[in-house]
This record gives sequence, C-alpha cells and structure tokens, in this order.
Amino acid sequence: MTPPSPTRFLTGITTSGTPHLGNYVGSVRHSVRFSRRADVQSFYFLADYHALIKVDDPLRIQRSTLEIAATWLACGLDPERVTFYRQSDIPEIPELTWFLTCVTGKGILNRAHAYKASVDKNVAKGEDPDADVSAGLFMYPVLMGADILMFNAHKVPVGRDQVQHIEMARDMAQRFNHLYGEHFTLPEAEIDDAVATLPGLDGRKMSKSYDNTIPLFTPRAQLQKLIGAIVTDSRAPGEPKDTEGSALFQIYQAFADADETAALRQAYADGIAWADAKQLVFERIDREVGPMRAHYDALINDPAQIERILLAGAQKARALSQPFIARLRHAVGLRRLEAPAAATQRKAAKVARPSFKQYRESDGQFYFKLLDAHGGLLLQSLAFASPQDAGRAIGRLQQEGGAALPALAEQLEPADNDKMRAAAEALEALAATSGG
Ligand code: TRP
Repeated sequence: MTPPSPTRFLTGITTSGTPHLGNYVGSVRHSVRFSRRADVQSFYFLADYHALIKVDDPLRIQRSTLEIAATWLACGLDPERVTFYRQSDIPEIPELTWFLTCVTGKGILNRAHAYKASVDKNVAKGEDPDADVSAGLFMYPVLMGADILMFNAHKVPVGRDQVQHIEMARDMAQRFNHLYGEHFTLPEAEIDDAVATLPGLDGRKMSKSYDNTIPLFTPRAQLQKLIGAIVTDSRAPGEPKDTEGSALFQIYQAFADADETAALRQAYADGIAWADAKQLVFERIDREVGPMRAHYDALINDPAQIERILLAGAQKARALSQPFIARLRHAVGLRRLEAPAAATQRKAAKVARPSFKQYRESDGQFYFKLLDAHGGLLLQSLAFASPQDAGRAIGRLQQEGGAALPALAEQLEPADNDKMRAAAEALEALAATSGG
C-alpha cells in the first residue's frame, strides 16, 4: 500500500526585522518541531519581495535575510528535510504574480485589510485616501497568493491577521482554474490558537512596530538587561504579586513547563522580589536559547554557508516551479508560434518514416511492400515479372503519393478504406520528410 501523500505546508517570513522572542514562541519553535513530522512536507521561505513593500533600506533587507535564515537554522530547521529558500531566487513567483493579477478583481484588493487600514487612516486625517500608499502595498495579497499557489500548498500556517490573504489566494486559484483548467490546489489557513502571543517590554504584544521587543539571540548580558527592563508594578519585596496581567509571568510561562510555572506562581504569592523573579526568568530563557545562540553566532559569521544553503533550497524549489510555470504559460496561451509547414512536418515525423521493402519470393517473382515506422504492413504488392517493374510502381508512389493509389490498384493486394488512408498518409509523410 502506498502511504498517503504528505500534506504540503508553506509559510513565508518577511525579511524586514530581527527575530525576537515573540517570533520564536509564536512561530519558529512550533514550525521547526512540526517540520519533522513524517506526514508533512514543508516549504519555508524568506519573503524578501514582501519586505520591499515596507523597507527601503537595502542593508536592512540584506541583514534581516541573514538573521532570519540563521535563526531558523539555529533553531533546528533541517534544510535537507524541508524546502527552505529565498523568495527572490524564484523568478517564477513574480511571473505567476502577473498571471494572478490578471484574474483578481481590483475591488477585492480594495477590501484587503492592510490596504484598507492605510486608506482609513488617511481619510481620518482628512488626506487623500491613497496618500503614501504604494501599488506594492495594494498588490501585496497577489504576491502572497503566488507564493502559496506556486507550490500548491494545502495548508498555510499564519496568524489571524493573515487569514483574509489566504482566502484571497483561494479565490485567485478558483478563478484561474475556472478559466484555464484545474491547475491549482485550493489552500487553507492553519491557525494554531495554542501558540502564545508574547507580551513585550511594555506589556503590549511583542512587536517590532511597538519597539518593545527582546531580540531572540541578543548576547547573554543584553538579554539579562532587557528582561530587567520588563514592566512590573511597584510592589516591594515580601508583598504578594499578581500573576494576572504580569508580562514577566506570561513570558516565563511560554518557556517553562507546568511544574516550573506552578512554582513561580507560588513565589509570586509568597512575595518574591521583582529583581529575583527577573533573574529566574532570564535563567530559564537562557537555558533554552543559550545553546542555539552559539550556533546562531557561528552562522551569522559565515554568511557564505547560509548563501549556499539558500541556493540549494532554491534549486529544490525551482525543480517544481519551473515545469509548473511552463504548464501555466501554456495554459494561458503564452505559447511558441509554429509555422504551418513546421506543424505538418512534425505530424509527418510522428507517423515516422515509413519505408518500402522490395524482395523476390520463392516463386521467382518480384514484390514490394510499404511498412510503417514500426514495421506494420501498409501496402502489399502483387507479383511483378521484374525488379524494374516493381521499382517503377514504387517510384510512382513516392512521387505522386496517395494520388497514385487508384491507378496502381490492380498491382496491389486489395485493402479496406482505413488501410488505404493510412497508406496515403504514410506516403505523404515520406514525401514531406524526404525533401530534407
Ligand atoms: N504576509 C506574511 C506576513 O507578513 C508573510 C508571507 C509572505 C507569507 N508570503 C507568504 C505567509 C505566504 C504565508 C504564505 O507574515
């Protein structure tokens, strides 16, 4: 029995920043573990075309690409197991983006959250609705659709804020399939509500847009300092503390097991000093992150190695995307032009060189037959008194093709219409290909 074919998971990480503890807890850790399952086939890519929409600093894009790639590898992503690549190494993606652009309603894009949020903000400020909105931001969902559909992903693990984009990719796939045939798998969003969203230094969700992040692989001393900066209330040592609403507690919980969490809860109730609680949290996080940090630092200091890994990943990805885009180009009508003569010649070649065989039988008479390319009998002559007579008949057939058949009927074994048509076609093919 063949095993069920694996479910294809695909997700992209925009290369616009430095990975932080929130990214690790909310996505990287879980994805790496998940990618080891035998029944899944994973595609992870660095969405650097997407980064261009928000970042116009080339060095930041390059640095972020390096940091994100190093992070995933340091956290245990195995590039042999998964397909790990950089979006901009796959030229088929922008090409597919255009195909999808042409089947996507502009009105649909008008309703995309990210674009609408910008418009709403402008309107609220009394500005032109599209002020400072690039066409890139407007087209963001189509590029994302191409990422997903290019590899026919079944499932796309994303945060809730991205669900609309997956639905749009589905719509694009459906519309394309309707117009051009069943080419695309319809993707589904995969939301894992179990994964934690982590509070940042100020207690709001950890996010680079709030500038409240703790970089995942910041040096040990810096990690300790940043954890020291997490907001707490002003309760003195000895006073019982609330776990509810404590950012420090929530961050600890994302790393600790149930027993450890229960122990800190007890310590809070017993009035642990904030400084001591912070030291505990620091040590717990560093226990998990420390060993990976060494690996991360080694990778960051060897960008050429990461480059090789990404190029190998691109090769793996393109083994799929190149033939697929060729199929899609053909489907939409981007096809080679063929001169009619060339087309006939190809058709002739398909019937593939028939041939005449001339021979003498034991009765002493001369015969010929016309065979197709596979040796199948197309025409059988009756007896000729001399090889010259047989040769003359063959010459006529070669020169006049099927048109000579009626005149030669008396020198040929009778055959039904289908046989005759096949013979005529073979003679035509012979004429078409013998000219050189
Ligand atoms: N838009 C995603 C984000 O900002 C990144 C992304 C780009 C992506 N292309 C994708 C995610 C395709 C999943 C699938 O997080």
